[in-house]
Parts: sequence; structure tokens; C-alpha cells
Amino acid sequence: MSFFEGIKELTNDCKLLNILLYTALSIGIFKITTFSLSFSSLIFDIFLKPSINYKKYGAVKSTKGDGKGGAKWAVVTGASDGIGKEYAKQLASKGFNILLISRTQSKLEILSEEISSEFKVETKTLAIDFSTDKPSNYELISQFTKNLPITILINNVGQSHSIPVPFLQTQDEELRNIITINNISTLKTTQIIAPIIQNTIKSSKGIRGLILTMGSFGGLLPTPYLATYSGSKAFLQNWSSALSGELKNEGIDVELIISYLVTSSMSKIKYSSATIPNPKQFVKSVLSSVGSRSGAQERYATSTPYWTHALMHFGIENTVGIYSKFANGLNFNMHKSIRIRALKKQARLEAEAKKQ
Ligand SMILES: NC(=O)c1ccc[n+]([C@@H]2O[C@H](COP(=O)([O-])OP(=O)(O)OC[C@H]3O[C@@H](n4cnc5c(N)ncnc54)[C@H](OP(=O)(O)O)[C@@H]3O)[C@@H](O)[C@H]2O)c1
Repeated sequence: MSFFEGIKELTNDCKLLNILLYTALSIGIFKITTFSLSFSSLIFDIFLKPSINYKKYGAVKSTKGDGKGGAKWAVVTGASDGIGKEYAKQLASKGFNILLISRTQSKLEILSEEISSEFKVETKTLAIDFSTDKPSNYELISQFTKNLPITILINNVGQSHSIPVPFLQTQDEELRNIITINNISTLKTTQIIAPIIQNTIKSSKGIRGLILTMGSFGGLLPTPYLATYSGSKAFLQNWSSALSGELKNEGIDVELIISYLVTSSMSKIKYSSATIPNPKQFVKSVLSSVGSRSGAQERYATSTPYWTHALMHFGIENTVGIYSKFANGLNFNMHKSIRIRALKKQARLEAEAKKQ
């Protein structure tokens, strides 16, 4: 090769190198820009965005004692305890009448009395065991709701595994209950209530409808030892986002709410901390941030609203990744050790019971 041919080849190599470098730089700049935008949006959503006004969904605040609060209705499933109870109370405080649906009539009645006297709104109660999946459950919901001007549905009812358990050892009853309560009942209840919301907003111009469904970090991250629960909540993610696409032009906002642990009888956690809010703190964060993605920046019609949960979701998504081997391994070790402790506790309680 002559000297000039060598220079030409080098120049051609440099051109290729330049193209590669510019491409890499452009990709880098694109990634940094999208990350910065998404991070700024996360910070804005969690700390700066003003709370939404529920007049948009037909809230009418009561002037204490006049009995005029709550022209429109909100339906809350799993309403007698934990997170659902807080949804019911906080929506009543914003000026909605509340239909409380749950399993235990006595708990529903106590809550109904508490809400109607404290917030001066109307309440109704409906005791249904969703795990039975009887047609009569849904006939009852239809009867109770057909003449109510409903604008909000909170699909909150849910069941998890009693303790973390390998999938192959999951009892048939637990497996069926989780899927029936978390998935079938949510779908069927929404099929009854969403058309009522459509009619209500058609006849009251200017207001919108809202359907919130409780997801979970268990559905965000594939969770070994909670495989059925994890799958049921992941199902709700796609179902809810798809439904959002169908209903957005009809005036109904549909959103999946993702949460890490909250103190409740389901989580079996009594004391709150920075990463584990109580139901009151958690629901306040949900209701003040409807329409914002917070920690779920990469997901349409989804929100991870509680601030530490939002940072965790964003952090995992942008580092190891939701579906990574690393995240799966960490989750496996965590739930395996929870199972070992839960089994030890069970054995201790059984031994104590035998002594008595
Ligand atoms: N707590 C957490 O750490 C956490 C984290 C992520 C997501 N979530 C989700 O948040 C939702 C609420 O959880 P939570 O912790 O508030 O639960 P919870 O304290 O155990 O309350 C569950 C509510 O659902 C009702 N319920 C349970 N099984 C039912 C059935 N078969 N039929 C009708 N109602 C039934 C209960 O009624 P009774 O009063 O009659 O028992 C109760 O009102 C669930 O979807 C859960 O998956 C919770």
C-alpha cells in the first residue's frame, strides 16, 4: 500500500469513527435528556404539583349540619378496613356520598354511622363476600347502584397470601380466592359501575368520572413466594391501562395505583415509618395526586403516589430494572426470609396453644 493510499484509508476509518462517536454522543445526550425530564417530572409530581379539586368529579362540600354534602356518589370496595376505609372517609370529607362494599356487615355499619355523622353525607352499605363469585353478588351491586349518581369507583378490595409461600405449595383455596377477589370481582364490579358513571356524567355536564384500582409493588416487581398475588396485581396493571385508553375520551379517568407496604391487617405491619405509611397518609397522597404519575413516570394511567414509594419505584426502574435477575433475586431472598420467620412464629403459637 502506498503512503497516499494509507492516508486515505486512515481518513475513511476516521470518518467511520466520527460517525460512531457522534451516534454514541447523540444517544447519550438523548438518554440524559429523557432521564432529566423524567426526574424533574417525578420531583414536580411528588413535591410541587397542587392537589386536584374534586369539584371536577362532582364533589359538593357540606356546610356543617345542613345535610347537603355529597350530591354525587363514590363506591369503595374493601371499604371496612385498612386502605379502603380511608378512601371512604377521605372521599366523604371532600363531599361525596359513599357506598361501602365489603365482607363484614357489622364493620360496615359502624363505619357508615361514623362517616355520615362526621361528614354530613349519605352512606349505604353492602356486605358481599367476593371470594364466593356468585351471580347474586353482582345482582345485588346492580340493584344497590342503579339509581345512584355515581362518579367515582375505587377498586380497592384485595387479598394476598397469608404468608409467603412457594407457588407449588400454594393451597387451591388461597390461589382461587386471590384471583377471584383481586381480578374477577374487580372486572365485574367495574362492568356494573362504569356505565352508571357514564350516564351520570352525561346528565351532569362539566364533570368527569374516576376509576382507581389498587395495584402493588407485588405486581410491579415479579415477586417469588407471592407469585399468585404478584400475577394478579400485574394483570390489573394492563387491564387498568387498557381500560383507561377506552374511557379517556368518554370523560372517565382510569388509573392504577401502585403501593409498597402500608400498615394494615393485610401487611401485618402495625407501625408506620418513612417507607411504610399508615392508610391515612397513603390515601391522602393518592387522592391529592390523581392525574400525576409520580414514581410511575414510565407508565401511562398509573401512579405511585406516596413519596418514598415513588422514589423507590423510579430508582428501581432506572437502575437494575423491574424485570432484572438482580431485582428478582433480592425479592426472592427477602420473601424467603419472611417465610422462615412466619413459619417459626406459627410453630411458636401452635406450641403455646398446645400448652394451654
Ligand atoms: N397494605 C399493604 O401493604 C398494601 C400494599 C400494596 C397494595 N395493597 C392493596 O391495597 C388494597 C387494600 O389492602 P389493605 O391492606 O387495606 O387490606 P385490609 O386491611 O386487609 O382490608 C381489606 C378490606 O377488603 C375486605 N375484604 C377482604 N376480603 C374480602 C372479600 N372476600 N369480600 C369482600 N371484601 C373483602 C375486608 O373486609 P373485612 O373487614 O370484612 O375483612 C377489608 O375491608 C388491596 O387491594 C391490597 O392488595 C396493600
